[in-house]
Amino acid sequence: MRIVILFGSEMGTAEAAADVIAGELAAHDVSLYDMGEFDVADLDAAALHIMVCSTYGDGELPTNAEPFAAALERERPALDGLRFAVFGLGDSVYGETFNRGGEIIAEQLNALGAVQLGEHARHDASTEVKVRDLAGEWARGLRALPSFELATA
Ligand SMILES: Cc1cc2nc3c(=O)[nH]c(=O)nc-3n(C[C@H](O)[C@H](O)[C@H](O)COP(=O)(O)O)c2cc1C
Repeated sequence: MRIVILFGSEMGTAEAAADVIAGELAAHDVSLYDMGEFDVADLDAAALHIMVCSTYGDGELPTNAEPFAAALERERPALDGLRFAVFGLGDSVYGETFNRGGEIIAEQLNALGAVQLGEHARHDASTEVKVRDLAGEWARGLRALPSFELATA
């Protein structure tokens, strides 16, 4: 099964995390897209989607993720059976809006019938944890899940 990784990034950190995740999953048929260049009509229930998304403004999506989120809202594609996992990025200095970007995407996909796999990762830029390290560790954890085996068999 295909794995489609989509990143929503303002300054490139989420894109770097997406690259690390793609590397960890390279034994599979992985493709990587900028969320801003991905058509929601191409969301495919036969593929596992990994959403890597930072947070901007006051708990909002990065600019390149906005057209994707707006298209989900407008077109409301039926995503029953589509499986996805989320690696979110944010900074706890922003308090209540911490990591909202990845959460917004997860809420939208869930509302359209998609099912989230694994742990929802929330990188915190205010900690010593390097995003690349957390992304690698998270992807290895995802790879080890029985539900990942099933989704990518
Ligand atoms: C102007 C600005 C606003 C931000 N707003 C939030 C926020 O509301 N919540 C949050 O958790 N992180 C927020 N962040 C932190 C970013 O999400 C975090 O630094 C992330 O690693 C950036 O990833 P990117 O380079 O892929 O865009 C903000 C950062 C900036 C520069």
